[in-house]
Amino acid sequence: MQPVEIIKDLFFFERGFLNGNHFALRSEKPILIDTAYIADFNETAGLISQLGLNLADVQLIISTHCHCDHIGGNKHIQDQSGCDIALHKIGKYFIDTRDDWATWWKYYGQEADFFDCTIALNDGDVVFIGPHEFTVIHTPGHAAEGIVLYNPAEKLLISSDTLWKNDMAVMTLRIEGSAALFQMLESLEKLASLDVRKVYPGHGPPFKDMHKALAKTRKRLNHFLKHRDQIGLDLLKKIIIYTLMMRKTVEVDLFFDDLMQTRWYKETVDLYFNAEYRPTYDAIMKDFQKRAIVKTQNGSMFTTVKP
Ligand SMILES: [Fe+2]
Repeated sequence: MQPVEIIKDLFFFERGFLNGNHFALRSEKPILIDTAYIADFNETAGLISQLGLNLADVQLIISTHCHCDHIGGNKHIQDQSGCDIALHKIGKYFIDTRDDWATWWKYYGQEADFFDCTIALNDGDVVFIGPHEFTVIHTPGHAAEGIVLYNPAEKLLISSDTLWKNDMAVMTLRIEGSAALFQMLESLEKLASLDVRKVYPGHGPPFKDMHKALAKTRKRLNHFLKHRDQIGLDLLKKIIIYTLMMRKTVEVDLFFDDLMQTRWYKETVDLYFNAEYRPTYDAIMKDFQKRAIVKTQNGSMFTTVKP
């Protein structure tokens, strides 16, 4: 995959669904926005070096939020370069206090390393990425510390996990709180007031029609507000597919027990499906098999969704 220059010397790297998309400023003092997932760090480093950049020269990393698929390279790159790392002030607080619950790492059993967060960002701050001016907009809902970055000169929006083209990021109310859907709706309203020509999301392809994506996401959130169980079902489906992507194949007979060992599976079923662990699992897997999203071969299961 080739990096795309979205504005002079600022490159966009579109990754799959396991790794968040990320950006790099080509400069003697490179600046990165997000650094993907730790397990794929070598791939991420390889992609960035295609621009002729040396990770030891990195001056600054701006992380859009603390989730593992966006901060995976932070520690490695900071160790090599001594770079600053900026997060929204709430994210800085999570990192400073070594809170691996609020960052979702512990809840979803994800691999991630703490790093030194040296810069706290606030809503409305202006950050310079080389010569380009970006406004920081705090967009809680998916993550309490989530930000997007808006460049008014070129009308570009780096929307991270606040806005995707065709889908929306998982809502984890167990961590983000019961009011997270309302916060997400308010965050979308902040974006609606911007004049945007192109959106670069945290996952999936870039897109032009921000208002169409906003309408889809709003509709989904309103559906969640009316049908509470759908929040849980969406979470379970997404995280089961992520788990299958990460593990590549699992044994059919063991997968349910594996899920029961995780925090997220049991708690989500407790929260939304009355602790009916096995029937919930069976219903989801039946649906996946029917839609050929999950297939079985010689006692092993795998997903056809591409990471
Ligand atoms: Fe996220």
